[in-house]
Amino acid sequence: MNTNALAFLGLTGIVGALAGLLMFATLRIFSAARQRQQSGRAGGADSDTLSVALEDAIVRLRAQERATAARAEASERLSGEIISSLTSGLLVVGLDGHVRIMNPSARRLLDLPDASPAGNYHDVIGEPALSQTIDECLSNGRAILRRTIHLPEGKRAASRFGVTVSPLFDGAGQLHGAVCLFTDLTAVQQLEEQLRLKQSLATVGELTAGIAHEFRNGLATIHGYGRLIDPAALPPNFRPYIEGIRAEAVSLGEIVTNFLNFAKPAQLALSDVDLRMLCDRVAEDVRTEARALGGDVTVQGEFGPIQGDEVLLRQTFSNLLRNAIEACSGASITPQVTVDSTVDTKRGTCTVTIDDNGPGVPEQARDRIFQPFFTSKKHGTGLGLALVQKIVVSHNGRVSVGTSPAGGARLQVVLPTI
Ligand SMILES: Nc1ncnc2c1ncn2[C@@H]1O[C@H](COP(=O)(O)OP(=O)(O)O)[C@@H](O)[C@H]1O
Ligand SMILES: [Mg+2]
Repeated sequence: MNTNALAFLGLTGIVGALAGLLMFATLRIFSAARQRQQSGRAGGADSDTLSVALEDAIVRLRAQERATAARAEASERLSGEIISSLTSGLLVVGLDGHVRIMNPSARRLLDLPDASPAGNYHDVIGEPALSQTIDECLSNGRAILRRTIHLPEGKRAASRFGVTVSPLFDGAGQLHGAVCLFTDLTAVQQLEEQLRLKQSLATVGELTAGIAHEFRNGLATIHGYGRLIDPAALPPNFRPYIEGIRAEAVSLGEIVTNFLNFAKPAQLALSDVDLRMLCDRVAEDVRTEARALGGDVTVQGEFGPIQGDEVLLRQTFSNLLRNAIEACSGASITPQVTVDSTVDTKRGTCTVTIDDNGPGVPEQARDRIFQPFFTSKKHGTGLGLALVQKIVVSHNGRVSVGTSPAGGARLQVVLPTI
């Protein structure tokens, strides 16, 4: 073999080796591509699953978020409804004194307008006794339970509040405000007063009726002997004495009879009473007297349906109107007397107000005019208003005295309606 043949053989070997290498490389490239293709398909499936799961989770989260928001809204609505439906007044104040919550009942009880501006509770409430109770809780962080506070008379319908103030603490136990709940105790107080009056009237009746009877018997005897003595048979200078004894026995007899009428237990003959007609009739009875003095008696307003004892109620209004006219005539004033009635359907009451333009009842006598035998009149019995009070109380009502717009007396009778 020559060198050319050897060179050719060597060249062929090199080409063969190169071709083998190329083939191997191509095969590797194909297999790598296939592998890549296969692994690419698997990766796609994974990411698809992942995104589906993610979307699912997002949808679920959104639904949960909506449900939570709806629950929060419902619970906010419920607490709003509870706060506004509470019959008690509710006040929530911060440590800075700012009113955070004030429900409609609180506004009603405090006579505040619906859209009263929020601010410091001292200014907003306008009731020092209530503000002081909240001050106390905020200053020492201690709860105040069912305290009764008295409100100044005449300012608003309520005269007593029952108050509970609880301190508000945050999660760290720091005081940051107070919750004040208050209710109107006026009706409870009036019921207590009614009961107390009924009991004391019953006691007075029981204690005194026996003595009064004994008195009346003794007086009847004195009166009888007095009538047996013939003044004509006496020396002239003794005659005035026997007349005095007779007159005094008669007048004492009347007092005792009146007192026994007052002291005896009230037995009501109940029926439906047309209060308007009743007041009209009573006014008619005393109008002649008022007109004789140049004055008048007027009846006006709305009268509610009442169940009561017609005879006793007539006696009540007659006593009140007569007192009004007597007060005016006693002070030489032309009597202008008005009977004005209003009905409170919410409270179920009818309030009859008798106003006159007389001298009025002095402040210091107001507690006493309903007591038996209190009179400022020369020939008064002092039993008229005591009887009025007894009759009104036995009808589960109440009577009070004040000042009329004309500066005279205002007597007010409140009776429950049916
Ligand atoms: N309308 C009135 N104006 C002023 N004072 C009154 C009026 N009504 C009652 N009073 C006072 O109350 C007192 C008690 O009244 P009352 O019990 O009816 O007894 P009396 O009429 O016999 O004095 C009266 O004496 C009077 O001082
Ligand atoms: Mg009288």
